[in-house]
Amino acid sequence: MPDPNSTASLRWWQRGAIYQIYPRSFRDADGDGIGDLRGVLAGLDHLADLGVAALWLSPVYPSPMADFGYDISDYCDVAPVFGDLADLDALIAAAHARDIRVVLDWVPNHTSDQHPWFRDPGRRDRWYVWTDRPNNWRAQFRRGGPAWARGATTGRFYLHSFLPQQPDLNWDEPAVEAAMHDVLRFWLARGVDGFRMDVLYRIAKDPALQDNEPGRAHDQDWETMQERLARIRGVLEEFDEDRLAVGELHLPTQADVARYVNWPAGLHMAHNFHVLELPWSASVFHATLTELYALLAPGAWAAWCLNNHDYSRLATRHGAHAVRPAAMLLATLRGTPFLFQGEELGLTDAPIPPDRVVDVDGRDPERAPLPWQPPTTAGPGAGFTTGTPWLPIAPDAEARNVATQRDDPRSVLALYRALLALRRETPDLQAGAIAFAAPDEGDPDVLVYRRGRRHLVALNFSPEPRPVSWPSDARTVLCTHLDRDAAHAPPPVLRGGEGVIARVS
Ligand code: GLC
Repeated sequence: MPDPNSTASLRWWQRGAIYQIYPRSFRDADGDGIGDLRGVLAGLDHLADLGVAALWLSPVYPSPMADFGYDISDYCDVAPVFGDLADLDALIAAAHARDIRVVLDWVPNHTSDQHPWFRDPGRRDRWYVWTDRPNNWRAQFRRGGPAWARGATTGRFYLHSFLPQQPDLNWDEPAVEAAMHDVLRFWLARGVDGFRMDVLYRIAKDPALQDNEPGRAHDQDWETMQERLARIRGVLEEFDEDRLAVGELHLPTQADVARYVNWPAGLHMAHNFHVLELPWSASVFHATLTELYALLAPGAWAAWCLNNHDYSRLATRHGAHAVRPAAMLLATLRGTPFLFQGEELGLTDAPIPPDRVVDVDGRDPERAPLPWQPPTTAGPGAGFTTGTPWLPIAPDAEARNVATQRDDPRSVLALYRALLALRRETPDLQAGAIAFAAPDEGDPDVLVYRRGRRHLVALNFSPEPRPVSWPSDARTVLCTHLDRDAAHAPPPVLRGGEGVIARVS
């Protein structure tokens, strides 16, 4: 019998955390106010210090930037604002030299309307989705509207699940599938370790273009999905078994999300927004997490993210008291933690004055630049840029910046570093089974679970103190406030927003 608590059979993406870089806002090396690849290179030591296993780079490809890079006009190059292919090669090499893997964003559902495929009359008709009679499908952004726009020359309508500048590719056309597989091969051959697959579930649609009905979507997650995904996995495996496929899935239920990782040649991991969107409540988290784990087939693996570039930051959504227990939750759940840049500082959203709004969907606040230094010493660019930042710097940058928190042994950054180090050196936290205490066993504001043979985690979701009972042989390993003595009995009362990891003998 293989030992279920052994890390021996785990792959790299199961052992460590993955850090999302939003390149416009990570670090600017050339002073134009927009982050770039040389900036990412310059910031790699921060990732190494934090102790992540990989970085995921949001799109850096040539793009008219109608959706800030998720509208791609060339899948196999780098946008000049970010640098060039040589910069990306240098970044991949430098990351690998620090034992950090590189995951790129792959956007298979749609291109930019400026992509040569859409501009080429010979390809446009077959490679995209057209109709004479628009159905009831809707575009996804908050301002929504019909998902159909009239083509400039033909008078027919093309499908855009997002902006009109993002026409959907027609994956029922074999040449499209082959071309998108070649995009994967292009990057895999350059040494990329895997892909975050943007709105993956949308590449399979009802070819008959029937109306969406209540309880049955025809514009996504169609029955062709499983075989299409299996062929994508096949492309990754042409290289080696270590290339990662993690998908973005906004699907109605967690059972839908679990399907994609339960398929034998499905995703390695799926981003599950059911958890990201929960209210900050221990009992609600308990119910949703236990549901997801019960849905996973043996061997299937979870991914956890509590922040990304499309959602208001957790520190703003749930408040400051949620930041530390959220960090401990992320690092100690069974599955792979995904962090979004700035999360490791407990960064909040930046308020955006109306004249500085640039995103079509209200997502500028969470995309504000990463503060590297205090503005009082580094100037208004907070070490992110020497120029004028493309979005305002968050108002808490004076306390929430990399340099200040690196020197503070009890900062949120110090907590993330300690948590990820503990996870790296603790087989229970990587491979160990997870078992939750029933909600009626303790205080309803405290989430309690066991990892593997010897580790217990208790997280107080409330801003007020809450009692917790521990086995008599429990000893503190780490607490969220970084001020309790290890190896002593864990506290019978958790402070507001406190979490504790303890070990039993
Ligand atoms: C994904 C991305 C989001 C983008 C959308 C369209 O949801 O995360 O930022 O706008 O896809 O590509």
